Amino acid sequence: MSPPLPNLLLLLPLLLLCIAPARSGTAKIGNGYRLVSIEETPDGGLLGHLQLNKESSIYGPDIPHLHLFVKHETQDRLRVYITDAEKLRWEVPYDLLPRDPPPRLPSAAVATSRKTSPPVAVSEYSGSQFIFRYTTDPFTFAVKRKSDGQTLFDSTSGDSDPYSALVFKDQYLEISTKLPADASLYGLGENTQPHGIKLYPNDPYTLYTTDVSAINLNTDLYGDHPVYMDLRNVGGKAYAHGVLLLNSNGMDVFYRGTSLTYKVIGGVLDFYFFAGPTPLAVVDQYTQLIGRPAPMPYWAFGFHQCRWGYHNLSVVEDVVASYQKAKIPLDVIWNDDDHMDGHKDFTLNPVNYSRPKLLAFLEKIHNMGMKYIVIIDPGIGINATYGVYQRGLAKDVFIKHGGEPYIAQVWPGAVNFPDFLNPKTVEWWGDEVRRFHELVPVDGLWIDMNEASNFCSGKCTIPEGRICPNGTGPGWICCLDCKNITNTRWDDPPYKINASGLQVPIGYKTIATSAVHYNGVLEYDAHSLYGFSQSIATHKALQGLQGKRPFILSRSTYVGSGKYVAHWTGDNQGNWENLKYSISTMLNFGIFGVPMVGADICGFYPAPTEELCNRWIEVGAFYPFSRDHANYYSPRQELYQWDSVAESARNALGMRYRLLPYLYTLNYQAHTTGAPIARPLFFSFPDYVESYGLSTQFLLGSGVMVSPVLEQGKTAVKALFPPGTWFSLFDMTQAMSSKGGQYVTLDTPLHAVNVHVYQNIILPMQQGGMISKEARKTPFSLVVTFPAGAQEAEAKGQLFLDNDELPEMKLGGGSSTYVDFYATLSKGQVKLWSEVQEGQFALQNGWIVQKVSVLGLGGTGASDLEIDGAAENVEMSVSPQNFLAPLSDGGDAKSSLLVEIGGLKLPLGKNFAMSWKMGKKG
Ligand SMILES: *[C@@H]1O[C@H](CO)[C@@H](O)[C@H](O)[C@H]1NC(C)=O
Ligand SMILES: *[C@@H]1O[C@H](CO)[C@@H](O)[C@H](O)[C@H]1NC(C)=O
Ligand SMILES: *[C@@H]1O[C@H](CO)[C@@H](O)[C@H](O)[C@H]1NC(C)=O
Ligand SMILES: *[C@@H]1O[C@H](CO)[C@@H](O)[C@H](O)[C@H]1NC(C)=O
Ligand SMILES: *[C@@H]1O[C@H](CO)[C@@H](O)[C@H](O)[C@H]1NC(C)=O
Ligand SMILES: *[C@@H]1O[C@H](CO)[C@@H](O)[C@H](O)[C@H]1NC(C)=O
Repeated sequence: MSPPLPNLLLLLPLLLLCIAPARSGTAKIGNGYRLVSIEETPDGGLLGHLQLNKESSIYGPDIPHLHLFVKHETQDRLRVYITDAEKLRWEVPYDLLPRDPPPRLPSAAVATSRKTSPPVAVSEYSGSQFIFRYTTDPFTFAVKRKSDGQTLFDSTSGDSDPYSALVFKDQYLEISTKLPADASLYGLGENTQPHGIKLYPNDPYTLYTTDVSAINLNTDLYGDHPVYMDLRNVGGKAYAHGVLLLNSNGMDVFYRGTSLTYKVIGGVLDFYFFAGPTPLAVVDQYTQLIGRPAPMPYWAFGFHQCRWGYHNLSVVEDVVASYQKAKIPLDVIWNDDDHMDGHKDFTLNPVNYSRPKLLAFLEKIHNMGMKYIVIIDPGIGINATYGVYQRGLAKDVFIKHGGEPYIAQVWPGAVNFPDFLNPKTVEWWGDEVRRFHELVPVDGLWIDMNEASNFCSGKCTIPEGRICPNGTGPGWICCLDCKNITNTRWDDPPYKINASGLQVPIGYKTIATSAVHYNGVLEYDAHSLYGFSQSIATHKALQGLQGKRPFILSRSTYVGSGKYVAHWTGDNQGNWENLKYSISTMLNFGIFGVPMVGADICGFYPAPTEELCNRWIEVGAFYPFSRDHANYYSPRQELYQWDSVAESARNALGMRYRLLPYLYTLNYQAHTTGAPIARPLFFSFPDYVESYGLSTQFLLGSGVMVSPVLEQGKTAVKALFPPGTWFSLFDMTQAMSSKGGQYVTLDTPLHAVNVHVYQNIILPMQQGGMISKEARKTPFSLVVTFPAGAQEAEAKGQLFLDNDELPEMKLGGGSSTYVDFYATLSKGQVKLWSEVQEGQFALQNGWIVQKVSVLGLGGTGASDLEIDGAAENVEMSVSPQNFLAPLSDGGDAKSSLLVEIGGLKLPLGKNFAMSWKMGKKG
């Protein structure tokens, strides 16, 4: 509703005054609400009624009556939900993201007239971890941690605060929280963050799925994750909690260091607070709500090679052969859209990728255990002779505008977009995936361009008498006849989020926001769910196909996507900055519940230098998802293209392939607890403030640390070592130990990457190989780490093994084995043993432990070895460990020993135990 003209004129000067500062979030927009009634619901929630205090005029009329629903949903999760009391509003659909619906709210009239006792001015509603505290006039709320009274969220707005109290209009919602200046925040993506993983005050955070390449800093990229983790150190002790605003509409988030303001253009305020108190617990609680990360097949942890511009099958065959020749591991070969006929999904180019030849190739690589994945875009080419399109049209599966399928342009030219919110579309998509799989037995799908990306904007028609695209010039220039749509409040909303980092209209280069989905849902509301809904449909299709565990890579993601897909960070640039940024984005996705993530190794475009590609594979070999991918216009950058890169790749990927059982166990832990595979250091050292902003190193699991070279010309890394003992995985005689943690400069020549394992860990490794299927058959070794010089110590590790084709990743059913490893050091005696659950699967596969390496032991030698389990030709060797010295804080471990026991044949599927004695120092 627009205000009458005279008013508008009067308002204009005022508006100008307000809009300018509004960009930095500093203008006051509304006048707040008061709580007029509140009551307890039968299931222990709180139901309140809010009434507007006074109309404000910017961004449309205020909604006069609001409902408030608050509930301690679990011990460690609090929900605060605010919506219109009189009209249903858009919310993330409950079938896409299953969760408890709020109670059916009484009508506003009923709620106001209800004779509940008038609310007291300030009151508290307490759960087991949180206290929800509210004031009535104006209505504000705070969330406190019960154990120590810390205020985690506080929506009050004082006169001097640069933001309003609660504002709730149809197309503008605003709410803020105060924050302590020393809180470290993480999350709010997808966003390339030049300042590293910690949110940086006054950097813009705009959330709206957009196809602008990842080289754009502080911009609304492909995914939408309105969640942050807040880590605080109170008197040397860390407390973390999480805050999700479950809303799919576009939003700007202003983080000013001491406050954070959400400005959202629709939907409801649906906050979830996660109590932590550790970072791991936050992600556990978060993924419990949004869905646990998808189990990945074993081969997905192998190395992947992709490129746009593999013109024909011979090129692909040559790539595979060249990897073998260079002795660089490779598990998966990919096609970007080169295999397609005219860029059309689910087709093959009959000349360059003839089906008989492709099938013969796939049979060959499948026999070796290699896999093949191709790209699929959501846009379906409008083409009278194209069956996929014809069937889609007949089943009415496309998003509409003005009653007709909405026309956009992507790689095939003019396209329609399937509406994955429509159950008929999901069915049709499943059928097309099935048909394609009969044509080409692919092992996974890569869903790209699903923000959704459109080379045009607005309302377009297909030109008559002109071919579009005409084959000359780049295919991404809009050649349809288009008009911008500006006359609806969906295409031109009153508040402009900073779309594409350029404040363009929100329909720019995507589906027009006045387009309509199934059941009348507006693209305006559902926009950022597009890739997520496609992920769910694709997952269903692949799983239905052969009953196998699907592998899907998606560019666009939303809250809950990790349950279905892996993610890569999109189009990055082959330069040193982008190598660095990849670490922060990867770590963020772990927090977002999408732990299977990586960046294009060596960069997507334009051309990496040889040195950069060396350093990038040394980082990328430790991304959970490890793939080299390049643009059509880039020179070839497979790892074998340079001898030096090949050498670095053999070294780094060689280590990755030896760590595969560990990575796969991390995948199991991610799937069962949400724990990220790649983690910031503060996940394991939350009390250690020095690690809070660290974005140049990362952990795999709890204690394998990667400290790579990220700068040109450098052959040394100044790496942070948190307190305790660390051992180099590449050379286990090298160690480092400190009481308080410290930076150590590590010599890192071109072919080296620093990978260290922390104390108190038992790391399961295998012997590696050229392909994960072979590597998986090799004998195991266990690396056991004790704090150097300790008299008494314990170490622990886990191993999960299963048939990775099964859709479920779980214990029970005879297709998996779980092993806990334990070790203790006490009074000079070392004990190491395993506790096996469901050993049958491991026994059937004949897996054995062949070698044990125990690091950090004191004493002079080892003797009296006893082994309960099969052993022949057992060899024991003892070597001294070198400590990188001098340590600034005088770490106390000046000497320690590495004891290796080889020649073992301990079946993994059976409990074993061994012990020996360390000789006393003379
Ligand atoms: C087919 O391969 C040839 C080279 O063999 C290449 O010139 C041509 O562009 C390819 N066609 C397509 C559609 O990629
Ligand atoms: C495949 O493409 C490559 C590179 O474009 C070209 O050199 C080669 O001749 C093509 N092979 C066939 C069989 O078309
Ligand atoms: C439709 O697809 C066929 C087969 O690929 C192609 O030859 C034709 O040019 C396409 N037509 C349009 C309008 O894109
Ligand atoms: C082909 O399309 C491009 C981009 O739309 C345009 O610039 C060019 O003039 C067209 N060429 C022909 C021959 O029509
Ligand atoms: C449509 O809007 C975009 C984004 O604001 C602008 O760049 C473009 O020039 C507009 N096109 C027309 C035809 O007005
Ligand atoms: C929008 O985002 C871009 C990219 O981060 C930033 O440079 C610009 O200042 C932002 N614009 C406004 C008005 O906030």
